[in-house]
Amino acid sequence: MTIETVGVVGCGLMGSGITQVVAEAGYPVVVREVEQRFLDQGLGAIEKHYARAVERGRMTAEARAKAWGNIRGTTHLDDLAPCDLVIEAITEQIEAKKSLFAELDRLCPPPTILASNTSSCTVIDMAAATRRPGQVLGLHFFNPAPLMKLVEVVRTVVTSEETFRTAFEFARSLGKEPIAAKDNSGFLVNRLLVPYLLDAIRALEAGVGSIEDIDKGMRLGCGHPMGPFTLLDFVGLDTTYYVAHVMFEEYHERRYAAPPLLRKMVLAGFSGRKSGKGFYDYSGPEPKPVDLGLR
Ligand code: CAA
Repeated sequence: MTIETVGVVGCGLMGSGITQVVAEAGYPVVVREVEQRFLDQGLGAIEKHYARAVERGRMTAEARAKAWGNIRGTTHLDDLAPCDLVIEAITEQIEAKKSLFAELDRLCPPPTILASNTSSCTVIDMAAATRRPGQVLGLHFFNPAPLMKLVEVVRTVVTSEETFRTAFEFARSLGKEPIAAKDNSGFLVNRLLVPYLLDAIRALEAGVGSIEDIDKGMRLGCGHPMGPFTLLDFVGLDTTYYVAHVMFEEYHERRYAAPPLLRKMVLAGFSGRKSGKGFYDYSGPEPKPVDLGLR
């Protein structure tokens, strides 16, 4: 099967990044958000990135016009019905994902492939909500989707070989490096990354070091592009909290348990960079570590 048109559900951090990449690779893409203001926000971010790429000579004005022309925003899910592939990038809440997959299954013709960009939920839960479980799989992009090369292509116990191969080739056609992953919560990367990020929070709670020093340690000592707290703010503390919760429910291992500090910060509305505050405060010209009252 060849993919000609793509649908994306959700135009947040991940959905807008995926839409940006897919449109740039030449596919017409319909992206759906629940409310116009969220759609405008996501599309605005894409427009800004394209404009910046032209300004910096990474993209021609012609290519920008073409990519931008490939994108259509909507608040109606039925507008995704003609797509050959639909990628779900909504919140990390399994019940919401299951109802969405059931609805997409009703709307889309039988050949359409349904994919999830979930970070932690098992894809089989979504596949089981449809009458086409063989055509459901995971396509897990990394944040920021336009810059990170990796896509995990996740095969459930019932994903057909043809669906897997089509999705793998589709990821390649986006200029990404796909890897095959099994449908275990966290797949391959988050299985290793999430305990590391949670451990950084536990180290902070235990007074091992300051936010800045722990970040500096991992950047300069291990060559990571971002320290764990910068990365947590970048990914979103709310997202990390949901992901940890799902992984803990799956494995019941302490290393996936969300530290109390993470829960408290999420409850306080500290979602990271997107809310202006997480482990750092982003209101000034430079991010400043937040005093979390730990001393
Ligand atoms: N689209 C297009 N271009 C973008 C962009 C976007 N979304 N975001 C940034 N850019 C552009 C910038 O505008 C910049 O261009 P200019 O040079 O013209 O300004 C260029 O890309 C490079 O940006 P930066 O200067 O910010 O780049 P950097 O060298 O500092 O690298 C980074 C940024 C790639 C994000 C790097 O810091 C990095 O690799 N960080 C780690 C990210 C990471 O680990 N991601 C995985 C998160 S985990 C996850 O996603 C899984 C999950 O399920 C939770």
